[in-house]
Amino acid sequence: MAVQTIPARIRWAVDFMDVQPHDHVLEIGCGTGAAADLICRRLEGKGKMFAIDRSEAGVDRTKQRCAEHIEAGKLTVRQIDLATLRVPVKRLTKVFAFDVHLFWVRDCREEVALLHERVLPGGSVNLFFDTRKPEQVPEILSRTSAALTQAGFRVYIVDSKQPPVIGIIGRR
Ligand SMILES: C[S@@+](CC[C@H](N)C(=O)[O-])C[C@H]1O[C@@H](n2cnc3c(N)ncnc32)[C@H](O)[C@@H]1O
Repeated sequence: MAVQTIPARIRWAVDFMDVQPHDHVLEIGCGTGAAADLICRRLEGKGKMFAIDRSEAGVDRTKQRCAEHIEAGKLTVRQIDLATLRVPVKRLTKVFAFDVHLFWVRDCREEVALLHERVLPGGSVNLFFDTRKPEQVPEILSRTSAALTQAGFRVYIVDSKQPPVIGIIGRR
């Protein structure tokens, strides 16, 4: 099988999140599966990942790319919208999403409240965005931070110039 490269923006974000071997990670909007692949490579033992995407194409691509992690029992991939997440993922240590616009283009209070219920104390929600359109950054920052703060997370911001990425991190 051809070796698939991991985009620099995804690598930066996953490195920032500092995955630990026994983490329980939820990814929202897994798309190509690049982040799921990289995260699963860092899990061992009890470490588990649950990746969701509301699009069938995203789920198919992730399942294909990450077949070895699914077979190893580390990764579960489901076609589901975050708003209807009804799966037994109650003890998450980390939530990851890259370029999932839901968090800044519309009211996402219910979805973020649902994440707050499922993230363990000390755990975090890590929402990253590509900043190649700098004019969008102020709105991404204000709306995403407000959603996390309202749900009860402590929020801080991280950024990188190259690759151009911003992260809004909510700690429970
Ligand atoms: C712009 S793509 C980014 C894909 C990948 N994270 C990346 O950075 O390459 C956004 C993805 O999030 C998914 N998505 C958007 N809103 C979602 C939601 N509410 N629940 C689950 N998936 C969602 C879309 O189907 C799409 O695959």
